[in-house]
Amino acid sequence: MTARLIDGNALAKKVRGEVAQQVAALAAQGRQPGLAVILVGEDPASQVYVKHKVADCESVGMRSVLDRHPASLSEATLLQRIRELNADASIHGILVQLPLPKHIDANKVIETISPAKDVDGFHVASAGALMIGRPGFKACTPYGCMKMLEAIGCDPRGKHAVVIGRSNIVGKPMALLLLQANATVTICHSATPDLAAHTRQADIVVAAVGKRNVLTADMVKPGAVIIDVGMNRNDEGKLCGDVDFAGVSQVAGWITPVPGGVGPMTRAMLLVNTLEAAQAAARA
Ligand code: GUN
Repeated sequence: MTARLIDGNALAKKVRGEVAQQVAALAAQGRQPGLAVILVGEDPASQVYVKHKVADCESVGMRSVLDRHPASLSEATLLQRIRELNADASIHGILVQLPLPKHIDANKVIETISPAKDVDGFHVASAGALMIGRPGFKACTPYGCMKMLEAIGCDPRGKHAVVIGRSNIVGKPMALLLLQANATVTICHSATPDLAAHTRQADIVVAAVGKRNVLTADMVKPGAVIIDVGMNRNDEGKLCGDVDFAGVSQVAGWITPVPGGVGPMTRAMLLVNTLEAAQAAARA
């Protein structure tokens, strides 16, 4: 069996098109959505991510403000800058690119962002809303994964989903979104003794560990849907995910490629969240 590909680039393009239409409608009322992206320091990967996020805003007609600061920026100054952006009516979303330099407490920074502008979905208010099934911003990567399942017609209801990884950014919110969609959810992690025993039972596997070949063909139920959140480099320096793509695609029913899978969808869902924030501000 050869798996069908879930094309994240194509789906992200469709999402951006839908967002662009709604941005135009808001802009016509003089309410152009605005995203502030804060980058502290010179981390090369973060610089690339931030550049993409700013370009994405432009591509759908949103305003973006790139706020760059040296790694020596004090925590107090960063918190003050966030408070200014909280009070700025032309800014609807605030994103602080992680990781932050060690002298800055990321939790404190995230908690300073107004929950109404928390388009990353990282604030405890957003995480708590998801936990109890209330409306709130969803973290962009798991939100994008859910969109991918929807796009291929995979309804999680009654399915067994295995999430590998328990980060606050992906694993935990992913598990909660799948649960909300009525899947039976298992969360596996570094202390899980027999990962394969779980993944072999799964109709849906989401791999979000950050390590190559966490999921191999012998660990997958034939026909399963495989979502690969990993972003790693192989021995040749090429981008690869957590899943052994060559092997697993012989067994799975559907699979996301890396690159061109979850990554573009994460970026697209940031635009969706920013649009939602601007629409909510327009209603207020
Ligand atoms: N660093 C890596 N991924 C992310 C993300 O989704 N949001 C932010 N703010 N920082 C990140």
